[in-house]
Amino acid sequence: MNDKRKFYLTTPIYYVNDHPHIGHAYTTILADVLARYHRTAGMDTFFLTGLDEHGQKVQQAADQRKVTPQEHCDSMAPHFLDLWEKLHIKYDDFIRTTEPRHKTVVQEVLQKVYDAGDIYHGEYGGFYCVGCERFYTEKELEDGNCPQHQKPLEYITEKNYYFRMGKYQQQLIDYIRDNPDFIQPEHRQNEILGFLRQELGDLCISRPKSRMSWGIDLPFDDDYVTYVWFDALLNYVTGPGYHADSQQFEKWWPADYHLIGKDILTTHAVYWPTMLFAAGIPQPKTIFAHGWWLTADTKMSKSLGNIVNPLDLIDQFGVDPVRYYLMREMVLGQDANFSVESFVKRYNSDLANDFGNLLSRVSKLIGKNFDGIIPSPGEYTEAENEVLTAAGEIDGKLQNLIEQLRLNEAIEETLQLIRGVNRYLEQTAPWKLVKEDRAAAGRVLYTAAEALRIGAVLLNPVMPNRTAVVMKTLGASSFDLTWGGLPAGNKLQAHEALFPRIDLKKQARKKPAASKPVNVITIDDFAKVELKTAEVLAAEKVEGADRLLKLQIAIAEERRQIVAGIAQFYQPEELIGKFIVVVYNLQPVKIRGIESQGMLLAAKRKKKLSLVVLDNPEVGSGASIS
Ligand code: MSP
Repeated sequence: MNDKRKFYLTTPIYYVNDHPHIGHAYTTILADVLARYHRTAGMDTFFLTGLDEHGQKVQQAADQRKVTPQEHCDSMAPHFLDLWEKLHIKYDDFIRTTEPRHKTVVQEVLQKVYDAGDIYHGEYGGFYCVGCERFYTEKELEDGNCPQHQKPLEYITEKNYYFRMGKYQQQLIDYIRDNPDFIQPEHRQNEILGFLRQELGDLCISRPKSRMSWGIDLPFDDDYVTYVWFDALLNYVTGPGYHADSQQFEKWWPADYHLIGKDILTTHAVYWPTMLFAAGIPQPKTIFAHGWWLTADTKMSKSLGNIVNPLDLIDQFGVDPVRYYLMREMVLGQDANFSVESFVKRYNSDLANDFGNLLSRVSKLIGKNFDGIIPSPGEYTEAENEVLTAAGEIDGKLQNLIEQLRLNEAIEETLQLIRGVNRYLEQTAPWKLVKEDRAAAGRVLYTAAEALRIGAVLLNPVMPNRTAVVMKTLGASSFDLTWGGLPAGNKLQAHEALFPRIDLKKQARKKPAASKPVNVITIDDFAKVELKTAEVLAAEKVEGADRLLKLQIAIAEERRQIVAGIAQFYQPEELIGKFIVVVYNLQPVKIRGIESQGMLLAAKRKKKLSLVVLDNPEVGSGASIS
């Protein structure tokens, strides 16, 4: 029997042909937020994510780097794991399809389906797209191009193994009709039902090793490896223990949500369910396809080269604001446009002005008027009604919205509560009230502080760190949403501004160097500059000049002397033996009466300086630099 209180959700497993990007980060944050909401609601939660390590794309990426596919996968996995750590992703299991536990499951399922007669050997021809790792029929092409990648496709025929997917067409149509939650949002369900109006062919599930060997061996013919999608989709059952632990598997399966992007809908809503029918495994409850993050209305994708690395925003503004933005801005199921401007706008309005401001008001007013001790509310009056009612209703509202994956609306509801509290503070003006009626001011400030705690609890799945700061500041430990969880008498802790306002103009002014126009030169201009490597033979300070060092250098057989303004950064003796880079054909000049025959190269930022030196001294002096 399945436990009603369990919640199992998955992300797609990501290809390791390149570094993670915003598309990967988005689905994984979304899953993390949902998992956290469900954990907070007391549900037993299992959140699975991982990597899709087989197939042609990965093999090609490894070939390009001249490493084995396994070495390639092993070197890519840490990039994903590091990013998940940085993004505070609390997954329960991380699966890699090259793990033995997964190979066992794939081979077991293949054998089962083969034995049941649903896999046969035959010849097939089709248009193969390496990017999608799948065959297309002629009808599916757009002007002869792959509908996803808009690139011409090659027609390939070969002997392969086929899964009788077509046999399950009617069963799938009936299943989708009988289970309206199976494919979400609804327009995606219609898309799949539309797709299923055409005859569903069989699915080629093998690749001859002669063409592509990076995959899991077919258990019944080791001249072939398994098609990467047949392998990858099964991760969803490997994770909860399909082969290894039937009790665990019974507990978690079927998945409550497979979260995916809209580009991988067919594989999830057609291939996967028919595979499960054939293997006799129950269907997942919901396959939910979200839209794409676009930039200037174009999909952010590696092949288009327009990916904004989420890490860049994180380093500048912190993890939580980025998580907040991604969750607040996308209406699940639709595409969303990403821009730094919209990020800053959202940050300033919701986080700095509303949420951050409420914390700073509450802590300042309690600090100033009540010695930092949270006052007791006493008897509530009419004035508190609106706040108390809103806070009392919000849990139910949010549960409803989250059940329907209307996450952006759930966040907006929480912000409405917070804005309501800010309004309440303006109306009641405790900074004035305290002079006339100290108890009334105490009641107002308790009300605001408790509503703030509730807001922080509700936003905790989205922003686990910053909300923890709010809780710590209030001295609150209860994540219960019942009113009154904040004990009066707590001593407020000091805190930094929760969300300092971002002023893009100020930032631009602060960094004039970044916006300095680039002085473009031609290759011919550059060819005039001769750069050579040189060995430092001797160095000494120039008397009477704090900043200058006089260096004797060797450029192959030639000896020269140069004067350089690096005395504040290097001691003369530490330079000896270093191989540096000098401008060889610079007209000699006299500096403080000392001849300088050339100039050395150094990198400078603010008060730091580093010489450009050879990291392979075997190159030696006198080498030209191009
Ligand atoms: N390996 C397959 C999935 C196998 S699941 C059994 C795969 N991997 S992927 O790395 O290419 O992409 C994974 C996910 O990233 C897809 O769900 C895709 O929709 C998502 N995104 C890639 N770019 C995206 C955006 N610009 N915006 C949002 N998500 C997008 O496909």
